[in-house]
Amino acid sequence: MTRRRGIGRKLAASFDRPVGGDSYDRGMAGRDVDDLPTGDTKVKAVQSMFDTIAPRYDLVNRVMTFRMDVGWRRRALRELDLPHGSVVLDLACGTGDLCRGLAGLGLRPVGMDMSYGMLAAATVTNPLAQADALQLPVADGVVDGVTCGFALRNFRELDPFFAEVARVVRPAGRISLLEVAEPANPVLRWGHGIYFGKVVPVIGGLLSDPAAYRYLPRSVAYLPSPDEMLANLAGHGFENVQRTLLSTGIAQLITATRS
Ligand SMILES: C[S@@+](CC[C@H](N)C(=O)[O-])C[C@H]1O[C@@H](n2cnc3c(N)ncnc32)[C@H](O)[C@@H]1O
Repeated sequence: MTRRRGIGRKLAASFDRPVGGDSYDRGMAGRDVDDLPTGDTKVKAVQSMFDTIAPRYDLVNRVMTFRMDVGWRRRALRELDLPHGSVVLDLACGTGDLCRGLAGLGLRPVGMDMSYGMLAAATVTNPLAQADALQLPVADGVVDGVTCGFALRNFRELDPFFAEVARVVRPAGRISLLEVAEPANPVLRWGHGIYFGKVVPVIGGLLSDPAAYRYLPRSVAYLPSPDEMLANLAGHGFENVQRTLLSTGIAQLITATRS
């Protein structure tokens, strides 16, 4: 394959031009996602994008969130509330931020991601595996918990992901899922829209890959409404399903206990 800077003309185009949807046609707040890739096109584009941005992924995260992501991750791990020594799968672990936090709390993380580039950039001491979060190479009910940071909107579909999480987590195990969100307050939403939609792509473009950071704000449209996500988790056998808004609603934390 010819190597070129960025995520490649064809894949970049799949983020930038209409593709049409075979699933997931309506995202957050019923917004149309017909102009974003879906199915296999989405999977390939996402994998290629993260392979490309991996080396500077952590730097861009810190800069574009003014380090707020550090606090969000801490909160996600605190809410997991599992005893020392618990085995926790960090799904779509990327460069391992949550894995490092889990290990620091005395838990035993195993990180899984489908992007080899992200795994190669990870500086962690725990086991890592290249795997699809929608088809985990893990037996039923063997892990105490699952974490997942900022990846829900990147999956081909959310329902099979929740089903896999429900399959591998033992009864009374805990899950803690972080995602971006859009503030409900109209003024904050407007300001956030300008920052996320206009400023973040510039920062990301300067520090990393322009097409990837143009996709980032648009990818929020893949997320189903909060009610749908919570109902879906409950339908897959989770209880105490809770959604907490972070930093005026620009991020969200979903926690639940396996029934
Ligand atoms: C925005 S990054 C988040 C990385 C990390 N969790 C964090 O909090 O920084 C999204 C990650 O999801 C991964 N990903 C997307 N789809 C996946 C899938 N089906 N299975 C496993 N990983 C996936 C990407 O490769 C990427 O590393």
